Amino acid sequence: MARIIAGVSSSHVPAIGAAIDNHRTEEPYWRRVFSGFEKSKEWMAQAKPDVCIAVYNDHASAFSVEIVPTFALGCAAEFPPADEGWGPRPVPVVKGHPELAAHIAQSVILDEFDLTVVNKMEVDHGLTVPLNLLFGSPNEWPCPVIPLAVNVVLYPPPTGHRCFMLGRAIRKAVESYPEDLRVVVLGTGGMSHQISGPRAGLINSKFDKAFLDNLTKDPKKLMRMPHVEYMREAGAEGIEMVMWLVMRGALDDNVREVYRFYTVPASNTAVGHIILENKPRAPSRHAAPKRRAVRLKPAARRAAARARIDRVHG
Ligand code: DHB
Ligand code: FE
Repeated sequence: MARIIAGVSSSHVPAIGAAIDNHRTEEPYWRRVFSGFEKSKEWMAQAKPDVCIAVYNDHASAFSVEIVPTFALGCAAEFPPADEGWGPRPVPVVKGHPELAAHIAQSVILDEFDLTVVNKMEVDHGLTVPLNLLFGSPNEWPCPVIPLAVNVVLYPPPTGHRCFMLGRAIRKAVESYPEDLRVVVLGTGGMSHQISGPRAGLINSKFDKAFLDNLTKDPKKLMRMPHVEYMREAGAEGIEMVMWLVMRGALDDNVREVYRFYTVPASNTAVGHIILENKPRAPSRHAAPKRRAVRLKPAARRAAARARIDRVHG
């Protein structure tokens, strides 16, 4: 059975990608940013996930404003780099995992999350910058990555609650995949930033730190936060943080925060990063010594079935 071992979130600031691509990572300004990801690269090298699911947003690179899907799952075998602004980044092509992606699409759509299935797509800094921060700059990305694009650029984006519940549905999908895969879910974007208008340059560290605290300990509080609060407190582009809730929803209720990093600024943006691990599970019932099967009465059986469904739709 596949299982989600951890969730990792990180900002995706495009200027971070430009600093890597133009070999400026050792400059003091950028050193401060990259030094916060040394531990994360070590953690990733140890965790060695078989697959990552990367929840990210496209910035009009793959989807123009003519078509903006709310949630789009990349089911292709590969996703070439593209970008606005600085142009396509010189990074490896992202290899997907079409079998697991198709399984997730089937499972979450049957669970009534209306995903768009995407069989051809390019991926921009929203996805490739976090990959660099977590894996460095290898010739090939070390594992397949399934992109899940979330609309946070055109009103109305999905609610934090919807994002969290999609994470739950993804966890259920992963756990029903028969192959033993260790999966890490990446949540990307944020933290506070606004890149245009009178409030351009807005950064709210107090809000960002409270968001990180709640992400670990009280994500239900974040699920209730309306869009207008993200916009007011974290700037117009701060709404990207709803994507972190997909990651959090895919994890267990109680998680272990193993690492956190926060620095201000990178370009116009506060940079935040967190690693949350699921606690090891009790051995599965397949491995447990045989116990006599408990026969449930029909009413109890129905209640148990309802409880299983509530895990996704509660
Ligand atoms: C900036 C940050 C972003 O997240 C983005 O997508 C574009 C620009 C910035 O800080 O300039
Ligand atoms: Fe962005």
